[in-house]
Amino acid sequence: MYVDFDGLSARQAYHWLASTVTPRPVAWVSSLSAEGVPNLAPFSFFQVVTHTPPTLLICPLVNSDGSMKDTAANIAATGEFVVNLVPFELVNAMNQTSFGYDRTTSEFDAAQVASLPSEKVKPRRVAGVPASFECRLASITPYPADTPSCYMVLGEVVAAHIDERIVGANGQVDPARLDTVSRLGADWYGRTKADSNFELKRPEGWAR
Ligand SMILES: Cc1cc2nc3c(=O)[nH]c(=O)nc-3n(C[C@H](O)[C@H](O)[C@H](O)COP(=O)(O)O)c2cc1C
Repeated sequence: MYVDFDGLSARQAYHWLASTVTPRPVAWVSSLSAEGVPNLAPFSFFQVVTHTPPTLLICPLVNSDGSMKDTAANIAATGEFVVNLVPFELVNAMNQTSFGYDRTTSEFDAAQVASLPSEKVKPRRVAGVPASFECRLASITPYPADTPSCYMVLGEVVAAHIDERIVGANGQVDPARLDTVSRLGADWYGRTKADSNFELKRPEGWAR
């Protein structure tokens, strides 16, 4: 099957990309509005960009009227956010926070998500997650510039909170203990705790 992206609708392009470029990790992003209302929402257009400086990327799409989602608007206004990883245990709460609550409602309250204070940034982090990354805004770029469909947000990680229980006896993070969820196509999700996971050593002679 050949798919010509010229002339493809936005919906179709989203479908082919989001259902095949998988699994995608989920950033559960907490932020504060300029008025101080806490916000929490999941984003699977999310990745590590580099380690020097330690940088994460999230890409909130725009709302159907072209306006910024609350997360992007909050980050642009305050310059701070926290990326929380989502354990399987909290997947329903994470899903609930994707509901389009208005800007005056905190998803922490609406979805009954427990929070903890952060150290270096104002937005609180999610309690009970394996890892949270406190971020300061490095750049926010509308893309494409003339008619943006998303805002590419780069955040420098200034601190992390790691649950020591995810570390195995060898000192490495154990995917089964991490047990975070990832986004697959449509309403499907994956888990790092999976029977199909396997280890693959780097090629012979490769020096780290
Ligand atoms: C697992 C999951 C992943 C999502 N990923 C994205 C994403 O990458 N980009 C996006 O714009 N919306 C994504 N959404 C939808 C947003 O979470 C949703 O629009 C949310 O209401 C945005 O909240 P905000 O307006 O408070 O920022 C995702 C939803 C779920 C359940």
